[in-house]
Amino acid sequence: MTTTHKQRDHERARERVEELRSQIRHHDRLYYVVHEPEIDDTEYDRLFRELIGLEKDFPRLLAPDSPTQRVAGEPVETFGAVEHRLPMLSLSNVLDTEDLRAWHARVTRLLERERFAMVCEPKIDGLAIALVYERGRLVRGATRGDGTRGEDITQNLRTIRSIPLALEVPRPPASLEVRGEVYMTGAEFERLNAERAAAGEQLYMNPRNTAAGSLRQLDPAVTASRRLDVIGYQIGWTEDGEPPDTHWQALRWLAEAGFPTSPHAVRLETIDEVADFCEAWVERRANLEYAIDGVVVKVDDLALQRELGTVGREPRWATAYKFPAEQAVTRLREIQVSVGRTGVLTPFAVLEPVIVGGAKVSVATLHNEEQVRLKDIRKGDYVIVQRAGDVIPQVIGPVLSRREGRPRRFKMPQRCPVCATPVEKHPDEAAHYCPNGNCPVQLARLVEHFTSRGAMDIEGFGERRAFLFVELTFIKSLSDIYALPQRRQELLEVDRIGKQMLDNLFANIEASKRQPLRRLLVALGIRHVGEETATALAVHFGSMEALRAASREEIEAIDGIGPIVADAVHGYLQHPEHAALIDRLAAAGVRMADETGARGGPLEGEAIVLTGALKRWSRNEAEALIKSLGGRVGSSVTRKTTFLVAGESGGAKRSKAEQLGTPIVSEEEFVALIEDREQGRAGKP
Ligand code: IVH
Repeated sequence: MTTTHKQRDHERARERVEELRSQIRHHDRLYYVVHEPEIDDTEYDRLFRELIGLEKDFPRLLAPDSPTQRVAGEPVETFGAVEHRLPMLSLSNVLDTEDLRAWHARVTRLLERERFAMVCEPKIDGLAIALVYERGRLVRGATRGDGTRGEDITQNLRTIRSIPLALEVPRPPASLEVRGEVYMTGAEFERLNAERAAAGEQLYMNPRNTAAGSLRQLDPAVTASRRLDVIGYQIGWTEDGEPPDTHWQALRWLAEAGFPTSPHAVRLETIDEVADFCEAWVERRANLEYAIDGVVVKVDDLALQRELGTVGREPRWATAYKFPAEQAVTRLREIQVSVGRTGVLTPFAVLEPVIVGGAKVSVATLHNEEQVRLKDIRKGDYVIVQRAGDVIPQVIGPVLSRREGRPRRFKMPQRCPVCATPVEKHPDEAAHYCPNGNCPVQLARLVEHFTSRGAMDIEGFGERRAFLFVELTFIKSLSDIYALPQRRQELLEVDRIGKQMLDNLFANIEASKRQPLRRLLVALGIRHVGEETATALAVHFGSMEALRAASREEIEAIDGIGPIVADAVHGYLQHPEHAALIDRLAAAGVRMADETGARGGPLEGEAIVLTGALKRWSRNEAEALIKSLGGRVGSSVTRKTTFLVAGESGGAKRSKAEQLGTPIVSEEEFVALIEDREQGRAGKP
């Protein structure tokens, strides 16, 4: 080949390489930042492999910011020190809205102005980092350290997929520093701990410490094996660029440059709105997939920020509204064991009562024997208790320095604490269980589950009546629930329930017969079948009859259902006892099929668009669900769209909906709307 040929090839390769990099960055951003992928994995892999191939054939085209270079580098001996050009400050705290108003009053006085905008952002409980970009390329990343000097962890930070290696801006400044928080989601934390439990390794305490440990790995390959995420919250400094005028603009700029920013940040004008926002997040935090420990409130105008300045290490222009602590230390009085509806034995801690996150906690789950052993929790220990939103409180671990004497290790009882049947355990599962299907606790728990909110939703039933009716043998099988109205007189004698209340209960029992199929499937208490799986099954088969006729393979062929779940569903339905139960329920009048064609379905006439990641369903499931309920699914927001369902961090579609004034509902609101309409209440988006 002649030189010119070679040159031409090289030139062509260079153009293609640039095109591929830009495409891959675009798709990375859609996948890791916006959570709205446009292409599937195979297509992405094709682009990626083409790029690797070209870089191999034309090594001169290799560049450190190429998406192929996100691979972990060589292990290091120690981390280098990094001097922060501007100190990384900490924040003053306020613990309630009264203190928050006092902060606002002080700022108002200092600025000598009544009105100034503030930006509020959830305060992520992770680790502060500083990233330096030169001409838009990531060149260094450091920890906060003591605020003045941090550690150089560039190699590790490069492995985090949501950190852009190159900023997508037309004219990037000569250099700039982005500050943000690295964190680990609860799901990733659980995944890691499950892996460690399987390997018999000591479990990690919480996502924050695990994220910190992951960032400080000398071997970047270890960091890369754990999924960390980042959210940018500040531009530290810029050189030879046009710095923004407001914090809000800075966040916008970062987002446009491809840097993840909080989808929950808001700009507000009054302290009343700010206080409402902070208080709302005390509850809302439970719905996030990562931990936050407060809300950061910042004066928006950067000129005003400079005017207010800093005292010590804390800026006067910002403060953190801290949530009530969700962890507390208390003494573990003893470890008891409860039996659940599937016979699983769960150890739980009986605690000296303690206030955690505003609620009194006196019992907390310990999950299973293995967890108790791996966390080394023993009777009499002081333990860290954690509560998050409405989930069951958990014991995180013991405070070993306060352990007295040599308490004995916990051992699971050999017999069921209720029916004394010898306990069993599968070697490859963590749980012990009571194999006696007729154990009265199991039936009572099953009845409690069957009648609960996410299942057949029979209001007025609850734990107490479930146990009472089972104990008095009014209920020997789930189908007996529907025979209760025939035993009105007897019930009035044994249950101290008023006539009116009992008739209400009967009306609710009657109404539950019309629950949709997915609710019934949840209610039966089939192993591994929660709301998601039940929805997928109901959408696919439409009736109990069709589901019962399905083979294991047909069930497994459904998107999102694996072999274990398929086995559990198939096994349950083929079991003669369960088949007979379902027949009895059908004979009692329980609806066994969803209306076909979804005419008159609760979403009839709706044109719905989905955005962002949903927690309950995959995209496919959500779309199938909407269709099965009579709605239509659109791919983009138009004037015809009747509402937008927004999961975590939807971007462009949300803005479009805001522009058009299309109603936007959260996933929770969407679920409530379907339920309202299914029950004939008027649900509105
Ligand atoms: S602003 C001077 N914004 O909180 C302002 N910090 O106690 C500096 N943090 O070290 C921080 N989310 O690690 C800011 N949206 C957010 C934040 C945030 C979490 C952390 C950060 C900082 C600490 C301050």
